[in-house]
Amino acid sequence: MIYFDNAATSFPKAPGVADAIAKFIAEDAANPGRAGHRMAVRAEEMLDALRLKLARLFNVAKHNRIIFTLNGTDALNMGIKGLLGTSANEGTVPHVITTVLEHNSVSRPLQSLADRGAIELTRVECDQEGFVAPADIEAAIQANTRLVIMTHASNVLGTVQDITAVGQLVRERDLLFFVDAAQTAGVIPIDIQTMNIDILALPGHKSLLGPTGTGVLYVGDRCPRPHLDHFNPWREGGTGGDSSTPTQPPI
Ligand SMILES: Cc1ncc(COP(=O)(O)O)c(C=O)c1O
Repeated sequence: MIYFDNAATSFPKAPGVADAIAKFIAEDAANPGRAGHRMAVRAEEMLDALRLKLARLFNVAKHNRIIFTLNGTDALNMGIKGLLGTSANEGTVPHVITTVLEHNSVSRPLQSLADRGAIELTRVECDQEGFVAPADIEAAIQANTRLVIMTHASNVLGTVQDITAVGQLVRERDLLFFVDAAQTAGVIPIDIQTMNIDILALPGHKSLLGPTGTGVLYVGDRCPRPHLDHFNPWREGGTGGDSSTPTQPPI
């Protein structure tokens, strides 16, 4: 068999992944952070060791700012709704800039926030080659702009965006920069410090070659503390087959 669906999820996984999961289930599968017994402590140490590895990979200074999620969609929803659904939004409607290249897991949560009047949304166009010009993002900034959120690489076109240039201009304006690295984490180097990334979301199961059901959200110090329980539905994103509506299709 030749497997051609690595952008959706990678196969085969990295050597040792299956053995490590089997070993964990057989020997260490306690609940991390929920108990003080030896197995639970060991499970917690494993999570922390992984946070440190991810911190090294993405040049994160504080590894405790890394959260584990179910996948990329989960990380993106958590970040978007955590950041934009706070009670601090009351009275002002924050403006959010995104691009036309976003995956449903960015596009749909933003659209549903905009439909509820929680944000004002601008989608910056790309050129005919599939690239978003940083100058177009800069031109979209308004007095109430709070966040720029964009994909590092388009899952449809494969075009890699100049997030270093965007990060620089976003930081100069003292806004927050949120990057969806679903298609690049593990393939293209990402340095959250030199790229001025405040929030980074990625799956563990694509090019990091990890197991299904893994994702990562980094939330930097410049972000207000997220309040994560304000929204229903909590998870919105690709259905795998139906992209005909701008928000999540009803079940
Ligand atoms: C650009 C992009 N963002 C987000 C996602 C969602 O990631 P996941 O499949 O881990 O939910 C994908 C998945 O293909 C993607 O390509």
